Amino acid sequence: MNAIEFIDFNTFYGSKPVLQNINLGFDSNSITAIIGPSGCGKTTLLRSINRTAEMERGYKSQGEIQVFGESIMEVKSLSYLRRQVGMVYQTPVALPLSIRENVLFGPRYYGVKNRSELDTITEYCLRQVALWDEVKDRLKRPASQLSGGQKQRLAIARALAVEPRVLLLDEPCSSLDPASTALIEELLTRLAKDLCIIIVTHNLFQARRISNETAFILDGRLIEKAPTAILFSSPQSSETQGFVSGLFG
Ligand SMILES: Nc1ncnc2c1ncn2[C@@H]1O[C@H](COP(=O)(O)OP(=O)(O)OP(=O)(O)O)[C@@H](O)[C@H]1O
Ligand SMILES: [Mg+2]
Repeated sequence: MNAIEFIDFNTFYGSKPVLQNINLGFDSNSITAIIGPSGCGKTTLLRSINRTAEMERGYKSQGEIQVFGESIMEVKSLSYLRRQVGMVYQTPVALPLSIRENVLFGPRYYGVKNRSELDTITEYCLRQVALWDEVKDRLKRPASQLSGGQKQRLAIARALAVEPRVLLLDEPCSSLDPASTALIEELLTRLAKDLCIIIVTHNLFQARRISNETAFILDGRLIEKAPTAILFSSPQSSETQGFVSGLFG
């Protein structure tokens, strides 16, 4: 079973179609990159999975998305869905709380109260994102004092703290320097051993470096999905060829 499966999936903002007839599966334990020109629907696709897109005025969808075989429209609650499907955004978001409380936001919401359990989660998640050594002596300080790259790793730690099965990342490195980007890429490669990771990126080099598969979207349609090396070296569609060789986009 795929971790995520889009079946004949369409979205609209008002009467304007955005995603059209998407049939697409995402593997567990794998990184899939989503690439395509600005405005083609990448963010809408990600936000459809955890049902945050439907908070936008005029958003409508048709067809189905399944998360581990379960339709996202039939899950018992949105919080159940969002616990399984974590999301990290382009701009690193640190909640106006301490570093520790940023990590514990989800676990506390889901009712974890035991002090030693909370300590364990904090250390485990910060180690997972290679931030522990940098912050272990200032866990109670405001997270706003961290650098952009550190905040982005903290945002990933916060997402991991509720043990999701899927991690969605929307251009997570676009505001980061090369060193922070390298740290995050390393971390995603490690996390993919246990998770389904879907990353939207404008950086084709990044897609080539870290993803197992790549999906190319153009004007709301899936043009092609293939193992990353194949999609870049011998794409089936001339549109993919044009995009990956930099002719447009
Ligand atoms: N809230 C909204 N209301 C109306 N139209 C929207 C809304 N959000 C996005 N759109 C439109 O839907 C289309 C897809 O937008 P989306 O943000 O998914 O693209 P994207 O591929 O993520 O682009 P980018 O690479 O610039 O982030 C665009 O034409 C956009 O203008
Ligand atoms: Mg986007």
